[in-house]
Amino acid sequence: MRILVAGGQGQVGSALAQQGIEQGLDLVALGRADLDICSEESIAAAFDKYQPDLLINAAAYTAVDKAESEPELAYAINETATALLADACAARDIPMLHISTDYVFDGTKDSPYVETDPVNPIAVYAKSKEAGERALRERLERHIILRTSWVFGLQGNNFVKTMVRLAKDRDRLTVVADQFGGPSSARGIADALLTIAAQYQSGSKVAWGTYHYCQKPYVSWHEFAQAVVARAIVLGLVDHEVEVAPIPSSEFPTPVVRPENSRLDSSLFQAEFNIPHTQRWSKDLSDVILASR
Ligand SMILES: NC(=O)c1ccc[n+]([C@@H]2O[C@H](COP(=O)([O-])OP(=O)(O)OC[C@H]3O[C@@H](n4cnc5c(N)ncnc54)[C@H](OP(=O)(O)O)[C@@H]3O)[C@@H](O)[C@H]2O)c1
Repeated sequence: MRILVAGGQGQVGSALAQQGIEQGLDLVALGRADLDICSEESIAAAFDKYQPDLLINAAAYTAVDKAESEPELAYAINETATALLADACAARDIPMLHISTDYVFDGTKDSPYVETDPVNPIAVYAKSKEAGERALRERLERHIILRTSWVFGLQGNNFVKTMVRLAKDRDRLTVVADQFGGPSSARGIADALLTIAAQYQSGSKVAWGTYHYCQKPYVSWHEFAQAVVARAIVLGLVDHEVEVAPIPSSEFPTPVVRPENSRLDSSLFQAEFNIPHTQRWSKDLSDVILASR
């Protein structure tokens, strides 16, 4: 079975590429230059060349704050291009695995979100991702939408790398303590997607649809930062004590207000795809911290 990955140079896309190599899979991960998901011609050319049996879309517009000033581009990539990919998969009768976000929820629920909770995206990025979910559902029956949160990977920038960079130069960091979620390593998300792909390849029935995937334990950004800095000290990347002080999000204003509750309940995904153990974010943390060198 050949797997084609769009967005192959992003955090999750490059983790998929790496997993493909490590697991000896027939997996081709293409960056934007070789597969521009906004272009029907580029999609057709990549499908013709690689003849995939399954598509994973790891490409997206992910600049949450910037999306407010370029909504057309955010929708073009997160909604219209998702529809183009879904149409291409439908025409070739292959399934598509797609990644979405906890931001489809407004964060006001007081417990972890399950798949059946009503969505209520609150800004352009979130709305464009939610529109992409609908576009895929409307076009392709055999799809998976995997909603995840707080992604950190080896490639690109993320919260973990930012905390390490700041901790190297400072004695004190202030970090938001009133937003909660499940940090999720790009590698773990790639594993989750490839577990679904493997089930499809084995010929077992796949329960297509929408699933939540995040790693545990749930933490605040402040607690996550404390763990990152402590690990960076153990790994020798930070050579001094750093105070990590909690602040309310009102003291760290961003153009787009983040949901207070980003916690996703992954139990349906675990049950459906036979994942015996809860995945923990601490497992891949050291590799990403070391990649911050
Ligand atoms: N990051 C998070 O914390 C987070 C949280 C929840 C959900 N998610 C979701 O998880 C998925 C993966 O996120 P990520 O963190 O891996 O994102 P990322 O690192 O920003 O990677 C996205 C990739 O998509 C590519 N891309 C953008 N437009 C494209 C186009 N027209 N054609 C082809 N490729 C294009 C980008 O390429 P360029 O570099 O060339 O633009 C980039 O390599 C996304 O669906 C995102 O919405 C992310």
